Amino acid sequence: MDFSDVLSRRRMVRSYKRDPVPKDVLDDVLRVVRRAPSAGFSQGCRVVAVTDADTRASIAEIAGEHWYLERGFGPWLSVAPVLLVLGVREDDYHERYRSADKVNDEGEEMNWPTPYWWVDSGALMMLLQTAAIDAGLATGFAIVHRTDDLKDLLGLPGDVAIVGIMAVGYSAEPVERDPADRARLRSRRKPIDELVRRERWS
Ligand SMILES: Cc1cc2nc3c(=O)[nH]c(=O)nc-3n(C[C@H](O)[C@H](O)[C@H](O)COP(=O)(O)O)c2cc1C
Repeated sequence: MDFSDVLSRRRMVRSYKRDPVPKDVLDDVLRVVRRAPSAGFSQGCRVVAVTDADTRASIAEIAGEHWYLERGFGPWLSVAPVLLVLGVREDDYHERYRSADKVNDEGEEMNWPTPYWWVDSGALMMLLQTAAIDAGLATGFAIVHRTDDLKDLLGLPGDVAIVGIMAVGYSAEPVERDPADRARLRSRRKPIDELVRRERWS
């Protein structure tokens, strides 16, 4: 698929068919996790791919699917045939940046100007979303507040933080936005010069 086609289909989908994702298709999407960029090649991201229906129902409950139902959405987290629970192990970064080729002039781990483990999580999210689109799938992302409950459910170690849940499946709505939807969104998008400037900000 051309990049422009992937981009035109890039949206957070909150409506899925129940059709399962074939194992080889899901495997291809998951394989991109190893291709994601990471600070110092720390590779701190962790992903649990859940297809079991009961576990997906529990995840949807923990993630508060009722919140969406109360706001007029149909169920989506419990319907999507795959839920990717995205996590990150911050200690991978500290361990990596204490190695000989990464320590600063004082021989210590650098002071982190930005918590790059969260940056890497966002990069992975985007890579997974675009890989899924390229495979004819759709994705949506949801944050989770009850992170300890989710970690207990999935047996995630204490040192892995939850980033959120990415639903993956076949969209139950057109993936390309219709003209009215596009126009509505365009009017909500911030003007480009509020987001991007050339050479200097001011
Ligand atoms: C970090 C992050 C958290 C988000 N959390 C949620 C969420 O909890 N629930 C949800 O329905 N959408 C969530 N979204 C999706 C955004 O609402 C969506 O990206 C935004 O409205 C723009 O729409 P689009 O991605 O379809 O273009 C999240 C997106 C990001 C990047």
